[in-house]
Amino acid sequence: MVATGAGRRTPAVTTHDRDQAVGGAPAASPDSTAPGQPGGRSLVCRIAASVEELNAHYSVRETSFVRHQGLFAGSDVDDFDRDPRTMHLVAVCEPTGEVAGAVRCYVRDDGVWFGGRLVVSQAFRASKLKVAPALVRAAEEHVRATGATTFLAYIQCRYVKLFEHIGWVRIGGEVEYAGTPHQLMRPGWSDEPDGVAETASLGGSPPADLRAAGG
Ligand SMILES: CC(C)(COP(=O)(O)OP(=O)(O)OC[C@H]1O[C@@H](n2cnc3c(N)ncnc32)[C@H](O)[C@@H]1OP(=O)(O)O)[C@@H](O)C(=O)NCCC(=O)NCCS
Repeated sequence: MVATGAGRRTPAVTTHDRDQAVGGAPAASPDSTAPGQPGGRSLVCRIAASVEELNAHYSVRETSFVRHQGLFAGSDVDDFDRDPRTMHLVAVCEPTGEVAGAVRCYVRDDGVWFGGRLVVSQAFRASKLKVAPALVRAAEEHVRATGATTFLAYIQCRYVKLFEHIGWVRIGGEVEYAGTPHQLMRPGWSDEPDGVAETASLGGSPPADLRAAGG
């Protein structure tokens, strides 16, 4: 059985396709539930609140990481997904209820949180809804709400600029995984723990966290 956030209190972040609220704009309150604008779509990012949303989270991940990119054979689900502390976020497009994207956040036993498996479904890429920045911001807010001070992610190098655009900074050098270069990064508010940068700059065999990061 895969852990689900269903039933957990789910602070949500809402954006709209008319006001372009994400991408450098101040973060909304984690409890923001602003109503949609007439005739416009809005996006709500939250921890999957039902089995259907959790299945959609896994489905958009599988489409990209297993089927399109071939980073994983068969399934990209791993032990971090079965950890009850892991948060599985979805971006839900209203009023249709479509799941436009996903990201997960998991915590190591030393208290360091990692984001990973960020994905936006094809139909919502480069959308005015700014799905990727909205998901990253929601992930940051959920992790910060736990009291965490360290949040990291291994980012595919082709997306480093995207993350820099939304306030993330590089740690160390590139590492190679499944033939794909990755870069360890953190949001501006996160600590940079001793040792992580050294691990990331080694290159060669990927660190354990990278094996689970999947972008
Ligand atoms: C990574 C991903 C989630 C980004 O989603 P997206 O919808 O393409 O991103 P957006 O179009 O909303 O881009 C957000 C901003 O980043 C910028 N951006 C996006 N990709 C960029 C790139 N490669 N280089 C520079 N800037 C980039 C956009 O211009 C946009 O800036 P703006 O707000 O000023 O317009 C999406 O491409 C995806 O799902 N990829 C496949 C899964 C994957 O490989 N994930 C690994 C992530 S490390």
